Amino acid sequence: MNRVLVTGGAGFLGSHLCERLLEQGHDVLCVDNFFSGGRENVAHLIGHPAFELMRHDITYPLYVEVEQIYNLACLASPIHYQYDPVQTTKASVHGAINMLGLAKRTGAKILQASTSEVYGDPEVHPQPESYWGRVNPVGIRSCYDEGKRCAETLFFNYHRQHGVRIKVARIFNTYGPRMQANDGRVISNFIVQALMGEDITIYGDGMQTSFCYVDDLIEALMRLMATDDAFTGPINVGNPGEFTMRDLAAGVLQLTGSVSALVCKPLPMDDLRQRQPDITLARQVLRWEPTVQLADGLERTIAYFRDRLLTQQAIDGLAALATAMRSKACEGIPEQTGTQANHRLTA
Ligand SMILES: NC(=O)c1ccc[n+]([C@@H]2O[C@H](COP(=O)([O-])OP(=O)(O)OC[C@H]3O[C@@H](n4cnc5c(N)ncnc54)[C@H](O)[C@@H]3O)[C@@H](O)[C@H]2O)c1
Repeated sequence: MNRVLVTGGAGFLGSHLCERLLEQGHDVLCVDNFFSGGRENVAHLIGHPAFELMRHDITYPLYVEVEQIYNLACLASPIHYQYDPVQTTKASVHGAINMLGLAKRTGAKILQASTSEVYGDPEVHPQPESYWGRVNPVGIRSCYDEGKRCAETLFFNYHRQHGVRIKVARIFNTYGPRMQANDGRVISNFIVQALMGEDITIYGDGMQTSFCYVDDLIEALMRLMATDDAFTGPINVGNPGEFTMRDLAAGVLQLTGSVSALVCKPLPMDDLRQRQPDITLARQVLRWEPTVQLADGLERTIAYFRDRLLTQQAIDGLAALATAMRSKACEGIPEQTGTQANHRLTA
């Protein structure tokens, strides 16, 4: 059993990781600034004797005693990370410095959630770890791409210079329950549009894409953390199986039973770059490859979003009912002037 710190632990991937670590008997400290993640993602873990939730921004130092650190804190969807690009880069760079400093002081092993975005707009397909990438350093996505690249640099420098035990995972597109409904990622977009009966928007029809189910991804991260100290990565983790956006949309329509129409739109500039992981290294070192089929993963994700939408509809319905009851109760009561109302408040 280890004391494990998960930064970004209230986010999509982080909450699943906290859950799995607790299942394995570890003591988990979940740290998050709740910018894109939320307490609701870990609400079911609160009260667990080995789980602790702390609000903290990793751009500031953190003084805790742990044996392992999973550094996941960073805004991950373009809508979120382009909202405050300076803060996005700080979360990757200052966050990495603070977490690596913590690992250096405590001797903890530290894993970085890096990304396939470090490959930028790649000229090779699929991308092996040896590919150095093609990133626009001044584009609107660079706050994320370059931040993550610099974080990798820092990880390897702390390793070479200070002997910090590091693991760098390059994560490719992942999906599953607890993705956010409104963060513009393709699978959550398709599912929510289908469940709401809205048109499903396909950007770049015919484009190949690939997605890894969250359970598979978390398994890979935990196997990576358990590797020998000599193994640092970087290592690709993702699903190499490709399908088209149209196939994906058709699958969502079938599984939701929705009658939404498919609407094709051109690709936005500098967006949705095609990537496919080469997972030869993960197969060799982690003895890992994805096991969850797309239809199974979609079904579990659809069930999650259906539940969330029903809960939201029930809340909206109750709110509308309460408003209607209030206005009914107020019928016939003359409207108060500002002075009367103030008098009421202060009396
Ligand atoms: N989901 C994917 O497909 C994917 C792909 C590649 C890489 N990643 C990486 O995995 C990690 C987790 O991604 P996710 O999809 O779960 O995203 P997410 O947005 O759901 O989770 C990120 C969490 O980090 C928190 N956070 C952000 N900045 C912080 C800060 N400065 N201090 C403390 N907490 C902070 C957010 O509030 C959120 O809870 C990220 O580092 C992301 O770059 C994810």
